[in-house]
Amino acid sequence: MDKLVIEGGHPLQGEVTISGSKNAALPIIAATLLTDEKCVLRNIPNLRDTNTMLKLMESLGKVVEYKDNTVTITSSGKINPFADYNLVSTMRGTFCVLGPLLAKVGRAKVSLPGGCVIGIRPVDLHVKGLKKLGAKMDIAGGYVIAKANRLQGRRVYLGGVFGSSVLATANVLMAAVLAEGETVIEFAACEPEIEDLSCMLNKMGANIKGVGSARLIVTGVKELKGVNYKVIPDRIEAGTYILLNAATRGNITLKGAESAHLMALDDKLEEVGVQMIQEGDCIRCKQLRKLHPVSITTYPYPGFPTDLQAQFMSLMAMVEGVSVITDKVYPDRFIHIAELNRMGANIRREGTNAIVQGTKQLRGAPVMASDLRASAALVIAGLAARGTTEINRIYHLERGYEKLTEKLTALGAKITREKA
Ligand code: EPZ
Repeated sequence: MDKLVIEGGHPLQGEVTISGSKNAALPIIAATLLTDEKCVLRNIPNLRDTNTMLKLMESLGKVVEYKDNTVTITSSGKINPFADYNLVSTMRGTFCVLGPLLAKVGRAKVSLPGGCVIGIRPVDLHVKGLKKLGAKMDIAGGYVIAKANRLQGRRVYLGGVFGSSVLATANVLMAAVLAEGETVIEFAACEPEIEDLSCMLNKMGANIKGVGSARLIVTGVKELKGVNYKVIPDRIEAGTYILLNAATRGNITLKGAESAHLMALDDKLEEVGVQMIQEGDCIRCKQLRKLHPVSITTYPYPGFPTDLQAQFMSLMAMVEGVSVITDKVYPDRFIHIAELNRMGANIRREGTNAIVQGTKQLRGAPVMASDLRASAALVIAGLAARGTTEINRIYHLERGYEKLTEKLTALGAKITREKA
């Protein structure tokens, strides 16, 4: 298993190109199940997760060609609506084949994704939403088994204990586009990734109104056609580079990035003392003054994203003073605290809060990556720390950051990938 070795303390400089959004690409790939025609998807990042999704599409009967961040998906003539445990259990994004399979084939057997280190992650909202559209849903042997003749449009309320759900909205939306009549999804997720999925579905011939809002009105159509579609830039990758720029007091420009998708980060960074400036399709950051500690609470979009919580904590660990970090989307997503503390951070958990007592500088140490975003937090800490940091179990990073070592090296980071 490989590890990353980082020699910290080098401010980053130069230009980095932001890849296509992983979390937009995954449901968008699944949406190609809704048509028999050819779909060409551009700006698909080459990541472990997107490759797993493409493998799943092949196992379901699609023909997939992937070259230079463009995926061409065509039909082999028959869909096999069975999503195997071995593929679905490795990442939750694959669960969003359920809605399209049900809508297109009338039946689906999809493995439950299970829990993971960031929380329990149930699928009750997915099941409830699809049931509302008339599907018969059973859970047996670790699989969700769903059946329906033609789904029926209904009013579906998708609010859960922690607010809206991104993938439940994707599943219900993809089922509703081929349902008979009108579906209104209330408390839909407003994340840019769902907006992107809606735009792609509309381009395929779906009729979705309220795109990007918490109320999606879908008039079902009989069939969808093929599409040529470009996925939005990855706002979480962009946010990660912005935070590591602040942590290393660097001067980098992000190319192909969209600050409108990062409003909450922009707002909090201004309080910290960093200004994000959009210039054309680039984001530049400017340090305005000595950095201040700032507290954050994560919420569904447009709130502060849970997927940037760990990286923000890493920055706060290096800003003198106290900040409080609370995650309202995944209240237990704090596994990175122990690893940051190994590098000299002073963070303690009190109930649902993490109290960060920022210190001037972290020190390099051997640490363990535990999930994708926690790993990104360790990379930020390692790049800013004094001395050498070794990050083990880096396969987590390969799930969500395209060409991470290459991009960082081009920005002047001292980072190498070695055999552990
Ligand atoms: C998506 O996961 C993302 N994954 C996650 O990104 C992201 O952290 C999350 O949204 C929140 O923004 C993909 O898009 C592939 P949710 P998702 O359903 O859709 C609870 C990353 O690092 N909930 O919006 O699975 C749930 O437990 C990953 O890239 C229910 O209670 O998340 C959580 O507390 C990790 N019942 C909250 O809702 C349900 O049926 C939000 O989860 C579904 C979810």
